[in-house]
Amino acid sequence: MQLSWTQVSKMWLGVLLTFLLCSGLDVQENSFTINSIHMEFLPKHLVQNGENLTLQCIVDVSTTSHVKPQHQVLFYKDDVLFHNVSSTENMESYFIPQARVYNAGTYKCTVILNNKEKTSVDYQVLVKGVSNPRVTLDKKEAIEGGVVMVNCSVPEEKAPIHFTIEKFKLHTKGVKQKREKTSQNQNFVTLEFTVEEQDHVISFQCQAGIVSGTNVEKSVSVRSELVTVTESFSNPKFHISPEGMITEGDQLLIKCTIQVTHLVQAFPEIIIQKDKVIVAHSRHGNEATYSVMAMVEHSGNYTCKVEASRISKVSSIVVNITELFSKPRLESSATRLDQGESLNLRCSIPGAPPANFTIQKGNMTVSHTQNFTKIASEWDSGTYTCLAGIGKVVKKSSVVQIAVCEMLSKPRIFHESRSEVIKGQTIEVSCQSINGTSPISYHLLKASSVLKKCSMSSNDPAVFKDNPTKDVEYQCIVDNCHSQNKMFSEVLRVKVIAPVDEVTISIFLSEMVESGESFVLQCSVNEGSGPITYRFYREKEGRPFYQITLNDTQAMWHKQHASKEQEGQYYCTASNRANPAKNMPRSNVLTVRVFLAPWKKGLIAVVVIGVIIATLVLGARCYFLKKAKAKQMPVEMSRPAAPLLNSNNEKILSDPNAEANQHYGYNEDVGNHAMKPINENKEPLTLDVEYTEVEVTSPEPHQGLGTKGTETVYSEIRKADPGFVENRYSRTEGSLDGT
Ligand SMILES: *[C@@H]1O[C@H](CO)[C@@H](O)[C@H](O)[C@H]1NC(C)=O
Ligand SMILES: *[C@@H]1O[C@H](CO)[C@@H](O)[C@H](O)[C@H]1NC(C)=O
Ligand SMILES: *[C@@H]1O[C@H](CO)[C@@H](O)[C@H](O)[C@H]1NC(C)=O
Ligand SMILES: *[C@@H]1O[C@H](CO)[C@@H](O)[C@H](O)[C@H]1NC(C)=O
Ligand SMILES: *[C@@H]1O[C@H](CO)[C@@H](O)[C@H](O)[C@H]1NC(C)=O
Ligand SMILES: *[C@@H]1O[C@H](CO)[C@@H](O)[C@H](O)[C@H]1NC(C)=O
Ligand SMILES: *[C@@H]1O[C@H](CO)[C@@H](O)[C@H](O)[C@H]1NC(C)=O
Ligand SMILES: *[C@@H]1O[C@H](CO)[C@@H](O)[C@H](O)[C@H]1NC(C)=O
Ligand SMILES: *[C@@H]1O[C@H](CO)[C@@H](O)[C@H](O)[C@H]1NC(C)=O
Ligand SMILES: *[C@@H]1O[C@H](CO)[C@@H](O)[C@H](O)[C@H]1NC(C)=O
Repeated sequence: MQLSWTQVSKMWLGVLLTFLLCSGLDVQENSFTINSIHMEFLPKHLVQNGENLTLQCIVDVSTTSHVKPQHQVLFYKDDVLFHNVSSTENMESYFIPQARVYNAGTYKCTVILNNKEKTSVDYQVLVKGVSNPRVTLDKKEAIEGGVVMVNCSVPEEKAPIHFTIEKFKLHTKGVKQKREKTSQNQNFVTLEFTVEEQDHVISFQCQAGIVSGTNVEKSVSVRSELVTVTESFSNPKFHISPEGMITEGDQLLIKCTIQVTHLVQAFPEIIIQKDKVIVAHSRHGNEATYSVMAMVEHSGNYTCKVEASRISKVSSIVVNITELFSKPRLESSATRLDQGESLNLRCSIPGAPPANFTIQKGNMTVSHTQNFTKIASEWDSGTYTCLAGIGKVVKKSSVVQIAVCEMLSKPRIFHESRSEVIKGQTIEVSCQSINGTSPISYHLLKASSVLKKCSMSSNDPAVFKDNPTKDVEYQCIVDNCHSQNKMFSEVLRVKVIAPVDEVTISIFLSEMVESGESFVLQCSVNEGSGPITYRFYREKEGRPFYQITLNDTQAMWHKQHASKEQEGQYYCTASNRANPAKNMPRSNVLTVRVFLAPWKKGLIAVVVIGVIIATLVLGARCYFLKKAKAKQMPVEMSRPAAPLLNSNNEKILSDPNAEANQHYGYNEDVGNHAMKPINENKEPLTLDVEYTEVEVTSPEPHQGLGTKGTETVYSEIRKADPGFVENRYSRTEGSLDGT
């Protein structure tokens, strides 16, 4: 009653106060100010995980009012509001029972009074340690090869949590297996662990780690309950028979057995291995067997592996087999024999115990005795072995390789059907020994020195390529495994024809030929194999006027009595078998001129003058006769001579000697030319020459020319200064002296 009364009175007092305060506020403006605000943590800002933690916000407010002002207190963690309370007290608290890692962080509080607001500084709150994880297993008994699900959780904490789970074997030190996992959203993880062979009793241990600020807070490691493991099958066991010493020829039996628990649905696979080779295996049942007639080769380390999906158990045993007799030895008198020699093979066993022998070539038996003798032929080449048997035990010797060499036949040397080769072309020279054991080595000789070598693995021809530039002789040498000496082939002669090259035409002695004299045209080639066909042409004539085939690099054409008709331009062609018919080499063009001999000119002049004189004499006689008859007309003699002399051949008459000398001058020119190459194509007529056509009626048929009647004669007129001409005369004299 008293209590309730007190409450009622308190309430009334509150109402009264509020009323007064409000009326006071309304009536009179009270002043408020926030002096300070700070936080305190109980017991302190660093707590152990699970400890109670109290956050306190303490404000200091000054006021003119008699009543404590109502203000708002706001609590923040990491800038997030988590508590909002209205209060008139100086201090507001917030209680965290059993602080966890996620409670750690940055705290502050804010007070709001009317429009005024003040916030405390930031405070770091740390929570040490992580609450203990709980480890649960899905089973307490497991079978080898089975799995155990391990659930580790920390229900009090919030994700992300990093879990570390380790598997332990009881009574053994050290961790067998360790797995880690971070759970991002849940506060537990479930991990699967395989039960391995030799895991008899196992347990698990879990630790949780949580990141708090920059630190990682870790829990203690908590152990799970124990798991008992049952074997799915036993370790494999070997049984060897016969027991004790095993000798070659005995029946060897190697058996591997296991015991399988009833819990296993399917049998594991049993494998017997010797040096990585599987010799026996079994998928159904609890044993595998390897049975063989014992031989020394069967001695060794045998391994029995039993494999289920996740489990494999291994054991091994060494089997030692005693040798009955040593491996036979096959010997041969020689491993390389010439055909016709004797092949002797002998098989033996060290200690020479009585045994049955077989000698084989490849897998064909050639002898049932210890010895094998034969006259070797090429077919006897091959691999030989010998088998020796005592009772059931048969042993094979090492392989003996026998090579029987057939003698090489005399090599044949040949090349493509044509016997001639054009210079620059490649020819293929082949060598072949038709008979004889390969590999055959071939050497090609060219002019008695080795040009090329090659080795053939068959009796096919060896082909050599060469590029002969002149006539050449080839020969080849063959050799093989036969003990005979090297064999030589016949000599192969190859004629190399060089195509005609650089054709030149030239003349003896001058291109200026005196009418009636002889001249010689020469067509020559720089290079070319005979026979060469030379053809001489005159320009603008399609057919050669002279053709000859010679074994020489030059051909001549003689002209006995030159006449004006031979004047013209000449060239020649030359070709041989190697030149393509369409593209025959052609020479330069040579210009030949024929002039009249000075004595003939003189003769013509004399005849003309004679005729003129005769005409004059006749004319005079007629005149005097007429005068004598008439006797009244005066006589004038001298006038008609000049116009007659001023005819076409005026110059010849004016100085015939000079003309003659000019021709000697040319002769001197020829003399100089003779020292120079014949093919010089220079125009020898360096002086400026004019020709005057003279028509002459020949009194008698001309020697060189077949024409009668009129003849065209060119006479030269030199347009040279007199001094130069004189100069030439003096040189002409010297030259004439010399010749
Ligand atoms: C922690 O607070 C609880 C009440 O929430 C109380 O029962 C307990 O005794 C307190 N523990 C300590 C150590 O003060
Ligand atoms: C605190 O609570 C009051 C009343 O409950 C409310 O009016 C005010 O807005 C709240 N403050 C914040 C910051 O949420
Ligand atoms: C692991 O344990 C936790 C709590 O002990 C439980 O909530 C969760 O479901 C369990 N997980 C599994 C997969 O059993
Ligand atoms: C036989 O082989 C196994 C597996 O290779 C090996 O572990 C063992 O040591 C070997 N035993 C002998 C005697 O060499
Ligand atoms: C096998 O037996 C022979 C004699 O019987 C012995 O000399 C040899 O050392 C044995 N080898 C192994 C590997 O046991
Ligand atoms: C052994 O002989 C058989 C025929 O009897 C033949 O097919 C086989 O190729 C031969 N093997 C060898 C390695 O010569
Ligand atoms: C085989 O030849 C050897 C000599 O090479 C000789 O001593 C031996 O008696 C011969 N064996 C037989 C079975 O002919
Ligand atoms: C040799 O072979 C014959 C017939 O196969 C056999 O009777 C004899 O016992 C054999 N000899 C030896 C030493 O093995
Ligand atoms: C090659 O050998 C066969 C028989 O072996 C013989 O008839 C032939 O004449 C031989 N040829 C030559 C070129 O020696
Ligand atoms: C050229 O010489 C060869 C032999 O070297 C001869 O057979 C041929 O008749 C000669 N030809 C001429 C045109 O002389």
